[in-house]
Amino acid sequence: MRILSGVQPSGALHLGNYLGAIRQFVDAQKQAGDERFFFVADLHALTTIHDGARLRMLARQVATDYLALGLDPERSVIYRQSDLPAVAELSWLLSTVTPMGLLQRGHSYKDKLARGLAPIHGLFAYPVLMAADILIVRADRVPVGRDQKQHLEMTRDIAQAFNATYGAGLLRIPEPVILADTAVVPGTDGQKMSKSYGNTLDLFAPERDLKRAVMGIVTDSTPVAEPKPTRGNTLYALLRLLTAESDWPATRRLFTEGGHGYGEIKKHLLGLLLDTFRAARERREELQRDPGFVEGVLARGAERAHAVADDLMRACRRACGTGD
Ligand code: ADP
Ligand code: TRP
Repeated sequence: MRILSGVQPSGALHLGNYLGAIRQFVDAQKQAGDERFFFVADLHALTTIHDGARLRMLARQVATDYLALGLDPERSVIYRQSDLPAVAELSWLLSTVTPMGLLQRGHSYKDKLARGLAPIHGLFAYPVLMAADILIVRADRVPVGRDQKQHLEMTRDIAQAFNATYGAGLLRIPEPVILADTAVVPGTDGQKMSKSYGNTLDLFAPERDLKRAVMGIVTDSTPVAEPKPTRGNTLYALLRLLTAESDWPATRRLFTEGGHGYGEIKKHLLGLLLDTFRAARERREELQRDPGFVEGVLARGAERAHAVADDLMRACRRACGTGD
């Protein structure tokens, strides 16, 4: 089984990225016999960042954060998307069989325009590049958050169109892997947590910034003495996602028995966040002092990704008539 996924380096990683995606990447490493590819999607981030120095810095940061959170270069191929330029070439080959209507139905494109992003071609063609990432290594499984579900469906449709044109079996049809309970992690305002909404709990923010974000989580005005509602309560939902099963009855009582104010419960969440990510935060500091190590991991990852992608590209070029 071959597993692949990626995260755009478009800002600091947050709890939604971890619970919805990266935690699954780390867990996938336990499965002996599988091959894993995890990359930093810097070509995708170019659709929103037009500042070379900043993109370079953010891409290295996501690679560092992957390692800090437990991705292991001995068990996973970790690379930067732009180090595998054939991805852009495959994206073009795929675009020549991708119906416009398929992309026009894209929710993510429409959402981005609704948020005020300019309607550039890169945003529109984003799902084709994503298909190329997945198809170039012949991935079987793609762990992602629910917001990426449609992109995975598009990948499958595009692969089928290519196979129908050039030969069955040329591209492998991948399956998405979406965890039900963490499919959508809420942000501090109760909407989906997202870099673009300014409602994130960043995994590696300085403690005082994290505290400010946690204290800013929206709550209702139930008096301290009374039991707190649990349905539709963002603080409750976040604690449910982070609390170990054995601690859950006690944490749940903070809401159900009354006598605990939201301020107290938020302090509990802050402590839990700091505890959960303490080891990762320390490891990240160490890695930041050794950028050569991170670059070395990416260089080795690129070599290993090339070894897999080169075969697929040769077959695709031969089929399309752009190579012999
Ligand atoms: P953002 O919305 O902050 O820009 P990305 O689109 O870069 O995040 O997402 C990277 C990965 O993290 C994807 O697999 C995505 O599905 C997952 N993810 C992002 N936000 C959430 C969330 N709030 N809940 C669950 N998964 C999420
Ligand atoms: N679009 C994904 C996101 O916003 C990032 C991504 C790019 C990706 N290429 C991918 C995810 C390939 C999985 C597989 O999160």
